Amino acid sequence: MSTQVRLAPSILAADFSRLGEEVKNVCDAGADWVHLDVMDGHFVPNISFGPAVIQSLRPYTDKVFDCHLMIAPADPYLEAFAKAGCDYITVHAEAGPHLHRSLQTIRALGKKAGVSLNPATPLSAIEHVMDDLDLILIMSVNPGFGGQKYIPAMTDKIRMAKSLIGDRPIHLEVDGGITAETAPIATAAGADVLVAGSAIFKGTSVDDYRKTVDTLRKAAEEAVARS
Ligand code: DX5
Ligand code: ZN
Repeated sequence: MSTQVRLAPSILAADFSRLGEEVKNVCDAGADWVHLDVMDGHFVPNISFGPAVIQSLRPYTDKVFDCHLMIAPADPYLEAFAKAGCDYITVHAEAGPHLHRSLQTIRALGKKAGVSLNPATPLSAIEHVMDDLDLILIMSVNPGFGGQKYIPAMTDKIRMAKSLIGDRPIHLEVDGGITAETAPIATAAGADVLVAGSAIFKGTSVDDYRKTVDTLRKAAEEAVARS
């Protein structure tokens, strides 16, 4: 994969009363992807939004919609998220017994397939589905809420995931507690997509968001250049 770092702001930290404008503003501020955190109050202890909201946001940008499904089961809803306009659809390895089938279903819907691992889930959970993947999402916090602290032990896991990927065309995304301090740690370990919610959605204007996007990108890319 290229060494370019992609920033994927999570709109979980945006102002929900004006989500369309928030998506447009953060994209105008230089975001590469839009990260969409879908929570069901069952797989994770929080509820966010579903495909109808995502569909209503789709006209606000052409940028990649990176959908992180924290729902169980996921399979009955994959088609709805594909139709809503998601480009990447990521399911959790812990969310069901048939991960391989979920990934194949996502690809059959014409979308990029991702798998996410909770902090306690070992990489061995995905070593036999590497040919069915377009993205690995390493959770660096326990999923469910924004604004948590990056778990330091995840840096080693990112490094191991990078080596498992080898030269396959698979993105390595890290999600949770990404700040100007932790972004360089994650990218030096091999991450090429960084999700950030609370670190990016500070202030309200495009200019506010541009400052935080630029700061994170600079910190992340300098670490890649050094490593
Ligand atoms: C947590 C979500 C994250 C979260 C990140 O369950 O998957 O995407 O919004 O938020 P921050 O960047 O605030 O940790
Ligand atoms: Zn997420």
